[in-house]
Amino acid sequence: MQSQRKKSAPSTISGKVFSIETPASQIVFAKSGDVWTFAHIGAGIAGVADAAALAPGRVCSDTVAGPCSQETYPAFGSSRGNSCAEKRGALQVRHADGDESIDWKCLRAIEIPEGKASRHVAFELADKAHRDFRAVQHFRAWGDCDVFETWVEIRNGEKGAVALSRMDSFCLQLPGLAEKYHFMSLAGQWANEANVGESEIVCGQEAVIGARSGVRDAWENNPAFMLSLGRAPAREESGRVLAGALCWSGAWEIRAQHANTHELRVNAGAANISGPYVLDAGKSIELPKFVFSWSEAGKGPATRALHKWAREHLMPHPEALRDVLLNHWEGAYFDFDEKKLLDMMDGVKALGGELFVLDDGWFGRGEFARDDDRCGLGDWFCNEKKLPHGLAYLAKEAKKRGLKFGLWFEPEMANTRSELLTAHPEWCLQEAGRPLRKGRGDDQVVLDMANPAVQDAVFAIIDETIRSIGSLAYIKWDANADVNNAGSPYLGPEKQANLWFDYAKGVYALFSRLRAAHPQIVFQACSSGGAHCEFGFLAHADEFWGSDDTCAQQRVFIQWGEGQFYPASAMAAHVTAVPNHQTGRTATLKFRFDVAMSGRLGFELHPKNMTPEEISFAKRCVENYKRIRPVVQRGDLYRIASPYEGDHAAFAYVSADRRHAVAFVYGLGRLFKSGAVEALRIPGLDPKKRYRVEEINLPEAGKGGHIGGLSGRTLGGDAISAAGIPFDLGAGDDSIVLEFTAAAR
Ligand code: GLA
Repeated sequence: MQSQRKKSAPSTISGKVFSIETPASQIVFAKSGDVWTFAHIGAGIAGVADAAALAPGRVCSDTVAGPCSQETYPAFGSSRGNSCAEKRGALQVRHADGDESIDWKCLRAIEIPEGKASRHVAFELADKAHRDFRAVQHFRAWGDCDVFETWVEIRNGEKGAVALSRMDSFCLQLPGLAEKYHFMSLAGQWANEANVGESEIVCGQEAVIGARSGVRDAWENNPAFMLSLGRAPAREESGRVLAGALCWSGAWEIRAQHANTHELRVNAGAANISGPYVLDAGKSIELPKFVFSWSEAGKGPATRALHKWAREHLMPHPEALRDVLLNHWEGAYFDFDEKKLLDMMDGVKALGGELFVLDDGWFGRGEFARDDDRCGLGDWFCNEKKLPHGLAYLAKEAKKRGLKFGLWFEPEMANTRSELLTAHPEWCLQEAGRPLRKGRGDDQVVLDMANPAVQDAVFAIIDETIRSIGSLAYIKWDANADVNNAGSPYLGPEKQANLWFDYAKGVYALFSRLRAAHPQIVFQACSSGGAHCEFGFLAHADEFWGSDDTCAQQRVFIQWGEGQFYPASAMAAHVTAVPNHQTGRTATLKFRFDVAMSGRLGFELHPKNMTPEEISFAKRCVENYKRIRPVVQRGDLYRIASPYEGDHAAFAYVSADRRHAVAFVYGLGRLFKSGAVEALRIPGLDPKKRYRVEEINLPEAGKGGHIGGLSGRTLGGDAISAAGIPFDLGAGDDSIVLEFTAAAR
């Protein structure tokens, strides 16, 4: 959560050139005519005048559309080279009088005072013809990580409504950056999230990713990308990279175009799926934040910058380490009673767990009691048929065992078969005069979160339930549908297309209220698995559920993908039973632990089904996890070997003080046991420090290791980085976890 900022008056920035900086990157803004332009985005340049003199547009061959503009917030119709024919710009509107152009004049560049950690500047823009149509474009540079934030507020001071047909948060149009561009992003579906894809955007073409679900916005495509600028895709520690992400949980679109003359154009913003957004006279709208990191040294630094920014400046509870939990879902699904839940609590306590989470199935009353997925959503009262002593009793029983207690909700959704929608059928999204299209359980629909009355009602019922429990520590916020009925009874006929934006804003408003009322609660963002793995939700939630696919082998890929942008402290990863419920695959308990321990470790199984040997191994792994948890959850991630490029994956986390590191290696379906795997060279260690190396998570302590007797040795950081730790891997799926602890001086 962003730190409290002192409010003091903004000051006007004088002069024609200025810059904002992060430790290793910089944006230089230069005034050009009536507007400000990007004169430089990249590594820091001490002399901003030099940067302006070398601005890429200077020696750029003009296109038929006119000279290339690098305006910071270009709009459709302006005269400075953003011709209607060629360029998109960031914003496109129809003014109250029908005019469809914008030609900005920057009234002022201002500096908005903040704490020491960041610098915040903004441009106050007014359209030259419609002086009361305004925008304020903000930029924030963080001083402790290479991340810039940008967002825009639009204010309609005209006499009538303005229709916004495009309203991007970010638009970059820069010539001469590179001759080739490669675009990397994450794509997937249910139980197969975050596949990494990368390809060249050849000249004249564009890469377009987006989501049109309205709810499950990070599944098919994730709203984040890495763009390599240069002849080849950037590697982990080499190459120029622009990494960006849209902080938005509704429909969105990101485009990267490699235009003629090798100009790069990047657009990112909320998508208007069904028509222009209608902004009434006198109203303002704040568009989603876009964050980006510039790296001159490959993808690794961009990932680490985004992780640090998310942990320390975006997500709530930045200081807290995440608990080891057991979520009941895969251990029992809907089939539970009090006794089973108490047994599970006993089980996870014995394993060393800290939190018990009751997933779906605990709510709904009478005919709507939830025994399967066909009813009850929206009725957030205890299902007393299943849980006769109530939720407070379960929370007390957890506490007796030294466990915290958590609960599943799906706040944005309801079943038509619920008390909520029986009383208020007008509260769900619906298209006037058409039958409802129902989702999960042939009954699920999405609530009209654009309607403040719906937000109030959902807030009241969830708030009351939380209070009745007394000590709720954790909420899993799920969302298992798309906007299948694209109509809001609340918005009225003229503003139906506002639904896509106002729905997401409504969800955020509800989330903010719940957070404010219950600041101690840790939230998990879930949406049919990983469809809320994005920074919009992570501004409110502490972690995300990466996938309903808990198969360890597949999780190696899913977590590799999600980890490109999203930090390990936020990545819930659970050890589950075998054969895996989604893929039918088997893996050793060690392999399952080794994979889950690279994120926020948890369980999703019934511990009573574990053998005594498995329990004793699991206990040791949990102990190990608690020791390495600070470095996993707060350390810098160094990717070493990609699972996409060979038969194993490897990466390491290194603590900020470089005293502690943990490396993970996963062999995937290897055909034979071999010692010939490339040695594990770990970047990020202090070359001057010596580290005790220990292989952990061995089924029998000290036996069957993979690093040929090196466990227990102390080695120099320089040697570990340069020569590397030799290791072998078994045939099939085998894994290694190494812990490095700096020796006391
Ligand atoms: C979704 C989630 C699962 C689980 C179920 C419960 O599918 O992704 O983790 O919570 O809902 O119905």
